[in-house]
Amino acid sequence: AQRRAVDEVLAPLRLSRDDLVKVQALMREEMDKGLGKETNPSASVRMLPTYVTHTPDGTEKGDFLALDLGGTNFRVLVVRITEAGITMASEIYVIPVGIMQGSGEELFDHIIDCIIDFQTKQNLVAQMLPLGFTFSFPCQQVGLDKALLLTWTKGFSASGCVGQDVVQLLRDAAKRKRHLGMQVVALVNDTVGTMMACGYDDPKCEIGLIVGTGTNACYMEEMKNVGTVEGDQGRMCINMEWGAFGDNGCLDHLFTHFDQVVDETTINPGKQRFEKLISGMYLGEIVRQILLVMTEKDLLFQGKPCPKLQTKDIFKTKFLSTIELNGLALRQIRAILNELELDASFEDSVLMKEVCQTVSLRAAQLCAAGLAAVVEKMRESRGVDQLSVTVGVDGTLYKLHPCFSTNLQTTLKDLAPKCNVTFMLSEDGSGKGAALVAAVADRAATPWN
Ligand code: BG6
Ligand code: GLC
Repeated sequence: AQRRAVDEVLAPLRLSRDDLVKVQALMREEMDKGLGKETNPSASVRMLPTYVTHTPDGTEKGDFLALDLGGTNFRVLVVRITEAGITMASEIYVIPVGIMQGSGEELFDHIIDCIIDFQTKQNLVAQMLPLGFTFSFPCQQVGLDKALLLTWTKGFSASGCVGQDVVQLLRDAAKRKRHLGMQVVALVNDTVGTMMACGYDDPKCEIGLIVGTGTNACYMEEMKNVGTVEGDQGRMCINMEWGAFGDNGCLDHLFTHFDQVVDETTINPGKQRFEKLISGMYLGEIVRQILLVMTEKDLLFQGKPCPKLQTKDIFKTKFLSTIELNGLALRQIRAILNELELDASFEDSVLMKEVCQTVSLRAAQLCAAGLAAVVEKMRESRGVDQLSVTVGVDGTLYKLHPCFSTNLQTTLKDLAPKCNVTFMLSEDGSGKGAALVAAVADRAATPWN
C-alpha cells in the first residue's frame, strides 16, 4: 500500500518516451515560430539573433577585459589571446541580493566599482582595454554592442533596466564613475560565450548549452532561416532563450501540482516555465514540495510535521547531487537530512533518494528533448543524413550532478539517433568566449589591428 501511494505521488513526474517525443516536436514548433519574420505573439521561445556569425578560427588576438554576470558568480577577467593560446586571470565579486533587486544604477555602478578594483589589482588602469560582456539574460540585440534587456530572469529584478540597452547602461555607469580604462565592444549571452570558448578548441562546436542556475541553449542557424535579420548568406548564432518554453501554455499538460507551487512562489510566476522544470535554482524546491506532500500523506517521517521543511530554498539543489551519488551510504544521506532537522529513518532515506532521482531524471530528459529538437533542425537545414556536432556545456547542475549528464546523453541518443553529438565541458567559463567575440568586433572596428 505504501508503494502504491508513493507511486501515485511520483507518477505525474515520470515521463514516457511519447511524452518526450511530444516535447521535442513542440520545441521544434516554437523554434520555427520564434525564427519567423513576423513577431508571433504566441511564440514562447524567442530565438534571439546574436550577431555572432562565426565560431573562432584561431586568428583572434589581443588583450581584453571580460565581465561575466548572471550565473552563480559575478566575475571580472582579463583574457590574453595570442597565437600560442589563451591565458586568463579573474576575480569573483559578490553582488548582494539588495543590489540584484535594487535599482539599475546601483547595479551598474557596483559593476564598474568591481572593474576598477580589478584593473587596479592587475595593474591595468593605464590602458583602455576592449571589453566583452557576458550577460546571461534575454536581450534583443541590434548589433554586437547594442542589446535591449527584454526581461530579467533567475533572481534579478533591478529596476529601470528592462527595455534599456545594457551596453549603454554600463557605459553610463563608467561615465558617472569617470572610468576611462575600458571600452565595451560586445555583449554575449552565456550560452554564446560557452559555445565560443569551446569552439576555440573544437571547430565542430556549434551549440552552447547551460544547465546551471538557469538553463538555455544557442546554436548556429542558417541565415536564410532567420526571418528577423536581413540577409540570406552564412550563419548566425541564435540565443534560443528556451527557459521560457511553455510560457504560452504549450507545456501545461506536463506541469504537476509541485511545479505549480514552485512557480507561484518565484519572483516571476508564469515565466520561465521550462527552466523551472530543469535548472538548479528550482530543482531543490520541487523536491521540497514533494517531501511536504509525502509527509502530509504519512509516507515520510512517520507523518510528523517538519517545520524546517516549510522554509523556501532550504533544500538546496546541491543536496540532490549529494544524495544521488552512487555508493553514498544511506547513513550519509541521513546525516544531510538530520542537518535539516529531519529525523530520517533508513526507509525515509531510501525514499528521499528516489524522489531526487525522479526530479533530476525528468530535468535531464526534458533538456534532452529540447536539444534533440535543435540537433535535428540543424541536420535538416544542412541537408545531411547524419550530423556530427559538438555541444559546449557549462553550469553547476550539469557539472556537479552525478547522473544528469549521462541521463541527458542517453535520452538525446534515443530521440535524435541520426545525430552524433559530443559534449565538451567548458573549463573556464563563458568570459573567455566573450573575449573571443570582442576580439572579432575589435578587429572589425580597427582593420589595421
Ligand atoms: C559559467 C559561466 O561558467 O557558467 C556563466 O561563465 C554562466 O556565465 C554559468 O552563467 C552557468 O552556471 P551557473 O551554475 O553558475 O549558473
Ligand atoms: C536564463 C537566462 C538566459 C541564460 C540562462 C542560463 O534562462 O534568461 O539568458 O542563458 O538563464 O544562465
